[in-house]
Amino acid sequence: MDNKRIAAVAGMVRPGRLAADIGSDHAQLALYMLQNEMVPAIIVSDIHAGPFDRAYQAANASIFRDRIDVRRGDGLQILKKGEADTVIIAGMGGDTIAQILAYDLDKSRSFGRFVLQPMSRPQMVRKFLAAQGWPLLEEKIIEENGRLFIIIKTCPGEKPYHLSPLEMDIGPLILAESRQDVVKQYLYYWLGKYRSAAAGLNNARNSELRILKLEYKEKIDRLEEILNGS
Ligand SMILES: C[S@@+](CC[C@H](N)C(=O)[O-])C[C@H]1O[C@@H](n2cnc3c(N)ncnc32)[C@H](O)[C@@H]1O
Repeated sequence: MDNKRIAAVAGMVRPGRLAADIGSDHAQLALYMLQNEMVPAIIVSDIHAGPFDRAYQAANASIFRDRIDVRRGDGLQILKKGEADTVIIAGMGGDTIAQILAYDLDKSRSFGRFVLQPMSRPQMVRKFLAAQGWPLLEEKIIEENGRLFIIIKTCPGEKPYHLSPLEMDIGPLILAESRQDVVKQYLYYWLGKYRSAAAGLNNARNSELRILKLEYKEKIDRLEEILNGS
């Protein structure tokens, strides 16, 4: 099986310490990290009964059953403050990830590192991180079976920072790597999204929509400049 996404997420976890995988479903990531001796033990959780059962069964059927603690519940509520070093939240929408982080800020700040892999709307994750002052330590694009995935590594911080609308969507560290083929693919994907959104507003009369169209135009121009190497 092609598991570049799982391997890349696991590679951003601080090794040798207890990790937690929130929304683990099948517990594939936990098993991968234990098989590769990346963490001594891991807590996995899921909010829904079906995925929780899958994780429980996968953990129990493995030789690592004593090192996987399977819990059921919403977001970080299944953890005690500071209980894990790295918290992984992968395979969910950006809005859900941001909501999970924002639910109990005091608790969220008690963990050492976060590896976040939004499946949609990564701008919602960056919006939360920038407002809270959590730095973007690493941003990576992974291609797996023709799909592109974004992974963000961060940790609690204190100094809020500004991101431009384009940086919010795509990520400042990704934009800085525009020569990499996989990053180019990702930038073209966003360019296509902006162009079709702007085209959908061609006949906009309302002033808010016209402003939105101008915002798309600015993003398109800046992305084209980056892709053309200027
Ligand atoms: C698509 S799966 C991703 C599984 C795995 N993390 C991965 O990346 O392959 C998303 C999982 O997140 C779970 N989930 C969604 N919202 C959650 C929440 N607030 N707390 C815990 N789990 C949640 C869902 O039940 C589902 O099993």
